[in-house]
Amino acid sequence: MIVATSIDTVRGLLAQVRCSRQTVGYVPTMGAFHEGHLSLMRRSVAENDFTVVSNFVNSLQFSPDEDFERYPRNLAEDNQLCEQVGVDLVFAPAAEEMFPSPAVISMQLSGLGEVLEGKYRPGHLEGVATIVAKLFAIIGDCRAYFGEKDWQQLCVVRSLAQDLSLPAKVVGCDIVREPDGLALSSRNRYLTPEQRAGATVLNRALRHGVDLIVKNTEATVKSVSEAMSELIVAEAVVETLDYAVVVNSQTLLPPSKLEGDLRLLAAAKVGTARLIDNLGVKL
Ligand code: PAF
Repeated sequence: MIVATSIDTVRGLLAQVRCSRQTVGYVPTMGAFHEGHLSLMRRSVAENDFTVVSNFVNSLQFSPDEDFERYPRNLAEDNQLCEQVGVDLVFAPAAEEMFPSPAVISMQLSGLGEVLEGKYRPGHLEGVATIVAKLFAIIGDCRAYFGEKDWQQLCVVRSLAQDLSLPAKVVGCDIVREPDGLALSSRNRYLTPEQRAGATVLNRALRHGVDLIVKNTEATVKSVSEAMSELIVAEAVVETLDYAVVVNSQTLLPPSKLEGDLRLLAAAKVGTARLIDNLGVKL
């Protein structure tokens, strides 16, 4: 496995890979790997001849009051895990490599980028879109693997690739969960044992929401959102609930009726960790 820190090195290596007609799989990450990241890498390794992982904690997607400084970083351990799952190339640039001069260009989002995370974390999705556009420009033609845990991020990245005609085919991958339902996240390590136990409420509430939609003919978009919100705020370790909603899975807007391809999404602060989760249901 090669570890590269410069954009030119990555471009040079990938040019050679493509010369020998090999396909490229790409997994963008911010490091601090857990089984969720490793499952994306394994899938890329299985579906492509050559797999690149980028490991870069992107300051653009954190607001000043968020956890950029304390976000877990352990490149040596991350690299070992990449090697174990068969990754061919890790791109781990320094901030100066990615931002050599103050940026003039940044992304602006509308529609599905403005709701949910767009509302509660202003600038976050724009920061994601800007760095992913840059990373896609560096990596070039590839299959790019993203976890469904960040459902809205996945929708934004799909729109980014389509709207800007970028040569990345975006592949959404299933959420990896702990046996008790908690979605794996690098931020779970901020939780105390008590908060960790209570954090399963997000998944419990979402499953309750799906049950209501499937089994209760009286359920409405509003009643399902209210039932999920009640469960979440009743959990002692939850500091704040940002949202617990049912939306159309593509537009991320509330549907007029409980029908079609729906996504239930929740975001809440547990201790100092802001956690998100989602489930899909098709009617
Ligand atoms: O999902 C993440 O880890 C990040 O948002 C991403 C896509 C690597 C962009 O920094």
